[in-house]
Order: sequence, then structure tokens, then C-alpha cells
Amino acid sequence: MLERLTAPVLEVLARETGLEPTALAGALAPPRVGDADLALPCFQPAQALGVAPPALAARLAAAVARSGLAEARAAGPFLNLRWTPAAVASAFLPLLADEPQLALRSAQGRGRTVCIDFSSPNIAKHLAVHHIRSTMIGHSLSRLYAAAGWRVVRINFLGDWGTAFGRLISGWKREGLQLPDLARAADPVGFLNELYVRASRAAEQDPALEEDARRWSKALEDGDPEARQLWQAFREASLAEFRRVYELLGVDFDDWRGESWYEDKMAPLLAELRARGLATVDDGATVVDLAARGFPQFKKPVLLQRADGGTLYATRDLAAADERYARYGFDRALYVVDLGQSLHFQEWFAVARLLGRPYADRLRHVGFGVLLMWNDEPGPGLAPGWAKGRTRAGRVMLLAEVLEEAVERARAIIAEKNPELVGEERERVARAVGIGAVVFNDLKHARVNDVKFRFEDALRFDGETGPYVQYAHARLCSIERKATVDGGGDPRLLTRDDEKAVLLAIAGLRAQLERAVDADEPSILAQAVLRLAGAVSAWLTAGNREHGAKVLGEDRELCAARLLLVRAARGALAEGLHLLGLAAPERM
Ligand code: ARG
Repeated sequence: MLERLTAPVLEVLARETGLEPTALAGALAPPRVGDADLALPCFQPAQALGVAPPALAARLAAAVARSGLAEARAAGPFLNLRWTPAAVASAFLPLLADEPQLALRSAQGRGRTVCIDFSSPNIAKHLAVHHIRSTMIGHSLSRLYAAAGWRVVRINFLGDWGTAFGRLISGWKREGLQLPDLARAADPVGFLNELYVRASRAAEQDPALEEDARRWSKALEDGDPEARQLWQAFREASLAEFRRVYELLGVDFDDWRGESWYEDKMAPLLAELRARGLATVDDGATVVDLAARGFPQFKKPVLLQRADGGTLYATRDLAAADERYARYGFDRALYVVDLGQSLHFQEWFAVARLLGRPYADRLRHVGFGVLLMWNDEPGPGLAPGWAKGRTRAGRVMLLAEVLEEAVERARAIIAEKNPELVGEERERVARAVGIGAVVFNDLKHARVNDVKFRFEDALRFDGETGPYVQYAHARLCSIERKATVDGGGDPRLLTRDDEKAVLLAIAGLRAQLERAVDADEPSILAQAVLRLAGAVSAWLTAGNREHGAKVLGEDRELCAARLLLVRAARGALAEGLHLLGLAAPERM
């Protein structure tokens, strides 16, 4: 996007020096001093031309100044350029006022496919508050990749298989439960969770129950109709709850194949590993000794099948990767999973490499740190403080509860700040702001860091928060509603530095989008959007203080020009929020 501004200047420099514009483009750098926007160190071009760098800088400064494209000054061997607000406005506004979302589009990924495995919770358990991390980092990445031109496949690899279900079914039978009991429960997932806890405790006391759980596990694997029917009911009850939370967050998936789906796809994989001599059978278990096969960093062999025939998480991930590659032919596959699972991913990625899979170097573990919540009511005898997950009087809070509390608090803040907002619209705005606050708090820091969450901080309207960005957007919407001039203005009338700052912040978004995709890092976009919101707020606040800076001032021509900028900034903020998974309400 910024090339629109630099290309004409490069032309001038190329004409003056006889060098290629592309050669000069590589040398352009952020300036070292003062209020310049861009600098060209003249050492190399001067050497190519056989002149002294300061002399060349002076000559180029004169040439650029003559062109009127920018203010230019030589500072010793450096050529410093400063865009005039009018040049910036003419370069970008005609395009961005009409289609502001173009600031956040790139063709970088055209023709390429990315599979993004995210959220992927375990069934028969609630979505706890920490699940927000994988869910929203993955959701935002799916939008960022799509905006950068990739074909995106969003995958929810549900944890819907394993020995836990044998135990659940065994407990279910022992307590004589019937399917209507589950249907009647106010909180079916909580019901299953408690059943699991009771069944586990009972099995600890009684080896016969442990044996019964194992038998049910086996029955489930062998397709026993009763076991399958119960498992299916547990799965559906969990999915219903997951979908409710996903709907609150605006999250969706293209592929819901969970671990169970790969149950019959592991035998051929294990057979291949054994036949090719890559895995060994040790006491009936199948293991791959990575250290002995060129991966010395792995101290312990990877277990892929237990002696009793049961398969493992790593085996299912491998089988799923084979499947996904066959189905989608991905160019990149992301696994948005907490850093606590790093070893798991390193291990099975290494097995894929050992197998010579063509996709092995396309796999990326997109890890992240833990979520720490401020506990103000941690329970009897405990002091308030930061902890993994929030507890209310000793009970861990669920994701849905945290979202609801955020919405409730947002509702109160909005009622105070904007009493005119009522009814259904206030409800919609409270949702957008409350949920947006939680989500933005999660995305604004580099993902590998731990995140601290406190309702009061995340919901501030003045700070590095979602509501702050949403509020800048809503201010722009309100100006547009009040405007009485419409139709095109002349971008060249924009001569203020704060207007130029807004435009440069918009024009810089595309590069940040591309960086965010390269690094699988939504925080890069979150920070760029914060800078844009900051520039917008500074501009609008100047308008409240200085009469001449007001967008809706008396001069209709100037007003029409400024409205172009309002439209561009409003659209860019809305799109930036959208890519981060936040809504952009028009009133707040
Ligand atoms: N179900 C797993 C868990 O809750 C996360 C799965 C992540 N995805 C994957 N392909 N391993 O820990």
C-alpha cells in the first residue's frame, strides 16, 4: 500500500541517478532523526556514481523538492523525506474512502491452502475460561490468512475418544442412569463431568470397577451398539454447549472431525511404521526411537500404541495429518495449542519427517502462554491474586460465565456513558463490547507470553483495549451520521499532520497483516489497529479543542474532504476489528 507513495519518488530518484528504482527501493529506511517519514542513505548510490554521498544527497533533495512529491532535506549523506499531508491523502484516499477494507487485503497467499486446527476441546467437559486462547487466536488467524488470500480450512479436532469414555459409561451403568436423565439435566455437560469424577473415585476404591471401565472402553472401540449410543449422546450434549459458546464468540469451523474419526485409520499407519522398520515392538507396544534415528534431541522414544492395543494422542494426530493432506493438500498446517504440548508436537512432527511425508515441513505448532485471571473472591482463607483460571468461592469459572460477566459489566458502563442507547441495541452493543474486551485482551500481546485478565482493565475505554478501538470506530460513525454534506471532497485539502498520521496508520495496515500471517501472530495486527485508533482519537480530540480542526466545520469543501478520511478510517477500524474477531458497533 505504501508503494503508492514511494513509487513516484523512486521514479524521480531513478531519473536523477540513472539507477534502477528497484535498487533504490531496497535502500529506503526509516529515518534516524527528526520528523522525516523516510530516509535514503546515499553511500551505495554515490559509490556507483563515483560522487561524494553528501553531494548526492543534496542533489537528490533538490530534485525531489522540485517534483513537489515530498519535502526533502539532505542531512549529511542522508536524504530525508517527509510526505506532505496532501500527497499522502491524494495517494490513498481516492481508493480507501471507497473500499477501506482493501487496506487489509493482500494477495500473498493466493493459490495456497492453510489448515488451522484450533479450539479442539475435549468432550464431556466444559469449555473453561482458558479455552478462549486457542479459540480466538485460531479464529483470528483464520480471518487473517483469508484476508491475505489463502484458502482456509478451520478444523475442530474434538477430543472425543479415549479411555475416559469407558469410565463414563461404566459409571452411568452402575448408577442406573437413562438417557432422559441427561436430557433433563439443566447443565448436561456438568452432569457428565460430575459423573466422571464419581466414577473415577469409585474405581480407585474398587478394582472391579476399573476392570468394568476397561471393558466398556473396549466395547466402545469394537462398536458395541449400547456403548456407541451412550458415547453419541455424551458427544452431542457437549457439542450443543460448545456451539452455544462459539456462537457468542462468532466462531465457526469447516471440519469437525474429532479424534474418534481416526479410530480405524491408525492401523495402516502403525503397520507402515513397522513394515519400514521405523517403529519397534517393545513388550507388545509400538514405539519409535527418534534419538536412534537421527533426532538426538528426543531423549525418550515415542509411544504410538500401547501393549493392550490402545492408540495414543500422537498416533491420532499423525493419522489426521495424513488425512488432511490427502483431503485438502495443505501448504501449511497450524496447530493452535498451548505451549504445554510442545513436546507432543515436536515428537509427532519428527515422526512425520522420519516417514518422509511431503508435508512434514509444512507443520507449525502455534503455541501460546497461559491465561492468568485476577481472583477477587478466591475462596475461604485465600488472598486475592493472579491464578490460572478464575475461581468463584473455590469453583473454576467457565468461559461462558466469564463472557456473561463481561457483557453484564459492559452493559452497566454503557448505560452510564450513553443513556440514550436502550433496548435491543444496548443489548447488542453490550455483547460486542463485553466479549470484545475479553477477546482483545487475549490477542494484544505476543502469543507466547502469559496473558493477565482482569475485567476492570480489559473493559477500560481509555487504554490498550478492545473497547478503546471500538469507541474510536463509534465516534467516526457518529460523525458520519451527523454530516450534512456528502459526495466527494478533494483529498488535497487535508493539510494537517494529525490527518496524515491517520492515513499513514491505515496505509501501513497491509504490511502488518502480512507480517502477522508470516509469524502466526494476531498481536501484530492488534497493535497496528491500536495505533490507528490512537491516531483517530488524537485527530478527533484536536477537533474538539480547536475550531479549525473540526471535521464538521463551516467550510463545506474542507468538511467533504475530511469526511473521506472519516470513511476510510471507520472502514479500516471495522475491518481490523473483524479480523481480530471483534464486532464494531456503530454506537457506544
Ligand atoms: N483436545 C486437546 C486438548 O484439549 C487439544 C487438541 C489440539 N489439536 C491437536 N491436533 N492435537 O488438550
